[in-house]
Amino acid sequence: MCGIIARIGRDEAAETLLSGLENLEYRGYDSAGIAVQNGSGVKVHKCSGDVSDLESQLDETPHGNVGIGHTRWSTHGPPTDENAHPHTDTAGDVAVVHNGVIDNYAELREDLHSRGHVFESDTDTEVIPHLIDEYLKTTDETELAVRRAVDTLEGSYAIAAIVDGEERVYAARKGSPLVLGLDDGGWFLASDVPAFLEHTDEVVYLEDGDAVVLEPHDYAITDLEGRPVERPVDTVDWDPQDAGKGEYDHYMLKEIHSQPTALSNAIDGRVVDGEVSFEDLPPGTFADVETVQLVACGTSYHASLFGTHLLRSAGVSADAIRASEYEPVSGPVDERTLVVAVTQSGETADTLDAVRTASDRGARSLAVTNVVGSTAAREADDALYIRAGPEVGVAATKTFSSQAVTLALLSQRLAADLPEATPPADSTAMLEALDDLPNQAESVLAESRASALARELLDARSYFFIGRGLGRSVALEGALKFKEITYEHAEGFASGALKHGPLALVTEESPVFAVYTGGEDGKTTTNATEARSRGAPIVAVGPDDHPLADAADAHLSVPDTHPVWTALLANVQLQLVSYHAAALLDRPIDKPRNLAKSVTVE
Ligand code: F6R
Repeated sequence: MCGIIARIGRDEAAETLLSGLENLEYRGYDSAGIAVQNGSGVKVHKCSGDVSDLESQLDETPHGNVGIGHTRWSTHGPPTDENAHPHTDTAGDVAVVHNGVIDNYAELREDLHSRGHVFESDTDTEVIPHLIDEYLKTTDETELAVRRAVDTLEGSYAIAAIVDGEERVYAARKGSPLVLGLDDGGWFLASDVPAFLEHTDEVVYLEDGDAVVLEPHDYAITDLEGRPVERPVDTVDWDPQDAGKGEYDHYMLKEIHSQPTALSNAIDGRVVDGEVSFEDLPPGTFADVETVQLVACGTSYHASLFGTHLLRSAGVSADAIRASEYEPVSGPVDERTLVVAVTQSGETADTLDAVRTASDRGARSLAVTNVVGSTAAREADDALYIRAGPEVGVAATKTFSSQAVTLALLSQRLAADLPEATPPADSTAMLEALDDLPNQAESVLAESRASALARELLDARSYFFIGRGLGRSVALEGALKFKEITYEHAEGFASGALKHGPLALVTEESPVFAVYTGGEDGKTTTNATEARSRGAPIVAVGPDDHPLADAADAHLSVPDTHPVWTALLANVQLQLVSYHAAALLDRPIDKPRNLAKSVTVE
C-alpha cells in the first residue's frame, strides 16, 4: 500500500533509493518516483509503471546524496505520471512522498488553492508540500514548518520530505509504518526494513506522533511539539539474502521453497519436554481467558480458521472473524476475551481496527505476526512472532505455513493454561510429529507433480477446492492463491457445502481439488465422488493410503503424518499448482494486478 524511502549519506542517493524501491514493490507498483537534492534544486523523476519503468526513463542517474522515493498503490487518483509521487509545492522547492490517506485533504486543498497554490495531481498527498510551503512563510525553521503542516493533517501518514538548499530529510508518522535504518555512511527511512536490509540491520522503529530530522551526521526524533523522544535501536535478525530472489524466477517460488527453513524457525525451541513453551508467554499467561477471537484478513484469515479448529478441538472456545466484519459480528467481548490479531505484516488496517475495537471493549490482545516492530506487535498487549523471514511475493505462502504452525502451538499453550480445556488424546503425537514437518515439506517440494498437473488442467473454466475441518481452511487458501496469481476463476468450499448450491457450477471443465487429511475423512471422498459423477476431474490432495487417492483422476501426494501437518503439506502442493499455472499463463506472479501486500487502508 505504497512504499516510501529516504536516504541521506555519502553515496549517490538515487541509486540507493531505486534499489530500495525495488525491494518495496510488494507494497505497490503502479507508479514510482524519486526526488534528489543536489545543490541545484530538487530534481523529481516519476512516472506511472513500476520501478523498472522509472529506471528506464532516467537518461542518467541524478546526482545528490539526499533523496526520497516512492512506489505507489493508488488510492486517490488513477496511476498516471501526474499522480505519481514525489509531489511538490508550486515552486518545486519542497518534495514529499507519503504512504497513507489524508482524510481532510479536500478542505486543505480548497484553502490552499484560495491562497494561490497550484495543484497538478488528483492525490491527497499533494496538499502536504503546499502546506509546508505555506508554513515556511510563517517561520525560518523548516523543521517547525514541517511539524505544523503535519499537525494539520487528519488521517494516516508516513511522510518524508526534502527542501531545496537543505541537506536534510524531514519525516513523520501516524498510522502508517516508518523505520529508521542506521549505517556507517548515513541514514535511511523506509516503510519497511527490506528497503535497506542489504545495507544495515540496525533499526529504530518509529511510533505514531514521531517527527524525524535526518542530517548527514546526526538524526533527531521529536514529538510534533518538538520535544525530544528516545527510541531504542534494535537489530533485525533477518538475513539480507532472504530479501532477494536468489536463483529463483520469482520471489513466490523462492518463498514456497524456503518453507522447510521457515517451519524449522517457527518451531525452534518452542517444544520443550513435550510441552509448548513461548519465551515471552510463560505458563499461566492465559489462565483468565474464557474465549478467543482470531481476527485476520485473506490468507491470514485462512490460517486463523486453521488455528480456531485446533483451539476448539482442545476444548477452548474460539472463533475466527474476518477483521473487516469484526464490528458487526464480534458479539460480547470483555476482559476475559483474548483477541488474536493474525497478520503477517502487522500493518493491515482492517485487522488493526478490529483489535482496537476489541481493546476498547476491554479485551486482551495478542499479535501473531512476522514483523518485529510492526503496528500490531507494538499495539497488542503481547506479540508472538512467526519467524518466517521477509516475504516479498504479494501472494502469502511461507507465512501461511508459519502462522498455522505457530497457531497450532498456541492452541496447546492456551489449553495447558485453562483447566476446563480438553486437549485431544493425540496432542502428544501431534507435537512429536512436528519434528519431521520441515523434512516432509522438503520432500513434497522435491517430488511434487504440481507442475505437470497445472499444465494438464490449464484449459479449465473454473477451479474448485474442497476440504473438511482443517482441510477446509487449506481449500479456501488454495482457491485464494490460485485466483490471485492466475486470474482464473477459483472458489474454495467446505466439502459438504458443494451439494447445497455450488454443485450446479460443476462440469467437466471445472477440476475439483479435494484436500483430505487422514484415513477418517470419508465424507470428502463422498463429496468429491459426487462432483466426479457430474464429469469434473478430481485431484486428490493428501496421503497415498486413502480411497480418494485411488478414486481420483490425479493425485498430489502428501507424506503420511499427523492430520494437522498433513493439511499444511497439502497446502504446499496447492501453492505449487497455483504457481506453475500462473507461470504457464505468464502472469506477473510476484505483483498480481490490483493487489498490494500490505493493505493499510480499510
Ligand atoms: C493473499 C494475501 C493477503 C493477506 C492479507 C492480510 O496471498 O497475502 O490475503 O493475507 O492482505 O495480510 P496480513 O497478513 O499482512 O495482515
